[in-house]
Amino acid sequence: MSVREATIADCMEREEIRNDLLSRGYDRRNFGKIAALLGGAVTAAQAAPAFAQQSAKAVVGAVRIGSNECWTGPLPAGVAAAMTIIAEGNRYEPNDNHAKLFAAVAEAEGVPVERVTAWPGSSDPLNRTAITFASPTRGIVTADPTYEQIWRTADWIGAKVTKAPLTSDYRHDVKAMLAADPNAGLYYVCSPNNPTGTLTPIEDIMWLADNKPKDAILLVDEAYIHFAGTPNAAKLAAARDDVIVMRTFSKLFGMAGMRLGLTIASKDLHGRMMRYDGQQVTNMLPMTAVACGTASLPLADEIKARREQMIAVREKAIAHIRSRGLNVIPGSHANMFMVEWKGKTPAEMMAAFLEHGVQIGRSWTAYPQMSRVTVGSAEEMQKFCLALDKILMA
Ligand SMILES: Cc1ncc(COP(=O)(O)O)c(C=O)c1O
Repeated sequence: MSVREATIADCMEREEIRNDLLSRGYDRRNFGKIAALLGGAVTAAQAAPAFAQQSAKAVVGAVRIGSNECWTGPLPAGVAAAMTIIAEGNRYEPNDNHAKLFAAVAEAEGVPVERVTAWPGSSDPLNRTAITFASPTRGIVTADPTYEQIWRTADWIGAKVTKAPLTSDYRHDVKAMLAADPNAGLYYVCSPNNPTGTLTPIEDIMWLADNKPKDAILLVDEAYIHFAGTPNAAKLAAARDDVIVMRTFSKLFGMAGMRLGLTIASKDLHGRMMRYDGQQVTNMLPMTAVACGTASLPLADEIKARREQMIAVREKAIAHIRSRGLNVIPGSHANMFMVEWKGKTPAEMMAAFLEHGVQIGRSWTAYPQMSRVTVGSAEEMQKFCLALDKILMA
């Protein structure tokens, strides 16, 4: 057992935490599993490999358009800020850097600073949200298809997952989600949705917040929202005590390997998510990521330019695919889209593309004939289109 896992296991023995977990239907066997997940001894994918379908390891040297990473690195000002702070790497926190990040988020989003906190990416707060607000007696409701990590986490902790198909225009069907389990502990909305890239209107998200059980939590995962540039749910999380908005710097900000994520929520919800560690998780963030994120977030013009660059490349690639007679799910507002293959399975197409040095994404059980493709650079998407033509002609 790692030191971190042992610390979390100790914290969970505190009377208040233990009683809360037991009263919500967890048993002692779950305690070890929760400590292992939060302590990093297992990842959600290892915990429930059944859902980790064909998640291919990155192929070095290939065009990597399978994992929804950004095609380019952090914004130049972010890189400069990270490089500068390396020289002060001897300090845990050289100059109030967490507070500066929170202030930058509050300013950019127009939310109170005390509602902002940061994490090493967003996978960790996603797991914590599931553990804290769902349980073996209160399930989780999601769309189908959606980002599956929460399904794996639920499987690991013994919480029931209820899935509601997307609407015919690929929004979350919020009414069907509520009807599917009217007494869930957690409702998860991913907008733009992974893997379809489609948005759920803020009005629908507000409807779910207003109509879910009062003591349930609504988690809005906005990992891709900067690619959409549309109204977001941050203000909802600022105004309500039962909504959490989650963000990551792994996508438009090009910081996936640096690990920085955010949540916007009430102090009480944040406190409940953090209590397993017995301290503020934010004390442990790498300063390079904090500095890079703080410098990048206010750069509205650069963010817009990156978004517009992605949209132009995405739309060109989609037009090419459609011109070859294949269907693409319409309405993506993110750096991904789903293609429906004719006559070949997604696994066969993945292998065929790899032969041409292009690594595309995988399929989802709800859409077994489709693959998710990430939008890369203009050059990378040209290689993708060329490879597609060769495969179709073979
Ligand atoms: C919708 C969504 N949420 C959360 C994450 C987790 O990302 P990270 O842990 O890098 O912040 C991802 C990663 O692909 C994602 O697609």
